[in-house]
Amino acid sequence: MKILLIGGQGQVGQELQTTLPAIGEVVVWDRTHLDLTELDDIAPKVVAQQPDVIVNAAAYTAVDKAETEQTLAFRINGDAPGKLAAAATNCRAALVHISTDYVFDGSQNRPYQPDDKPNPLGAYGQSKRAGELAVQAACDRHIIFRTAWVYGAKGQGNFVKTMLRLGAERETLNVVYDQVGSPTWAYEIAAAMTALIPTLNSANFGTYHFTNSGAVSWYDFAVAIFEEAALLGHPLKINQVNPITSDQYPTVTQRPHYSVLAGEKLAHLICRSAPHWRESLRKMLKEYLLA
Ligand SMILES: NC(=O)c1ccc[n+]([C@@H]2O[C@H](COP(=O)([O-])OP(=O)(O)OC[C@H]3O[C@@H](n4cnc5c(N)ncnc54)[C@H](OP(=O)(O)O)[C@@H]3O)[C@@H](O)[C@H]2O)c1
Repeated sequence: MKILLIGGQGQVGQELQTTLPAIGEVVVWDRTHLDLTELDDIAPKVVAQQPDVIVNAAAYTAVDKAETEQTLAFRINGDAPGKLAAAATNCRAALVHISTDYVFDGSQNRPYQPDDKPNPLGAYGQSKRAGELAVQAACDRHIIFRTAWVYGAKGQGNFVKTMLRLGAERETLNVVYDQVGSPTWAYEIAAAMTALIPTLNSANFGTYHFTNSGAVSWYDFAVAIFEEAALLGHPLKINQVNPITSDQYPTVTQRPHYSVLAGEKLAHLICRSAPHWRESLRKMLKEYLLA
């Protein structure tokens, strides 16, 4: 099986680089191989590879900046996945496209199922939803793989790395407690996707949710990060974390208050459930702080 991995330098992309070779020959592309804003390049470059599976881990991920860069965000997250999907159809490949909990508005009080109605609150979520629709329209053999609250040791910054930095600089910190989700280690996303791909057949294409299990507020997640980092001997100044509301920490984009994703459909398919978020946090911190 030949797998074309797009977005190989992102948080999830770097983990996929380590897990995907177990199931096939992997061609890794980053922005230098294919710039997704160059929409006309996508089909010819992808079709020339004749992959069996395309994994799209690339995205415009700057949630707040997307409000002022909507054209760019929609091009990368909305238009480019449609072109990838058309290319997949052209070469009879399957497309695995990563999407986000931010396609939901967070008004529910139970975990979101893959077929719950999306209603994104901001430009980033809207652009990712546009990508989902474009993929569905252009390729029957698709997986839309929604995940949430991603962090990893590799790749760009994320909430865990930000907390470690701030916790080393400050004694007190305010963190929002009225947004609840499931922090998810990029490695676990890669492992679940690598288990999913060999199961693909005409009966199981569609939309799936995957996150670490359990749910937590950003505030409780921050406290856990500091507790686990301290146990590993990481030097921290922080001695007080205050829970605040989203209103007390205004951001350009409104975030969903509750965006827990129900992962049973995928767990059933790959015959395993996701580890609890705290267990994965512990492993990521060991890798990141003790490496
Ligand atoms: N991060 C989260 O909390 C989160 C939550 C839910 C869902 N997701 C989804 O999970 C997926 C992976 O996210 P991530 O956290 O791994 O993202 P990431 O670390 O920001 O990586 C995104 C990758 O996309 C690449 N990219 C951006 N614009 C591109 C372009 N025009 N052409 C080619 N490549 C481009 C970036 O390349 P450069 O390095 O060159 O910029 C980067 O390597 C995305 O679909 C994202 O929407 C993420």
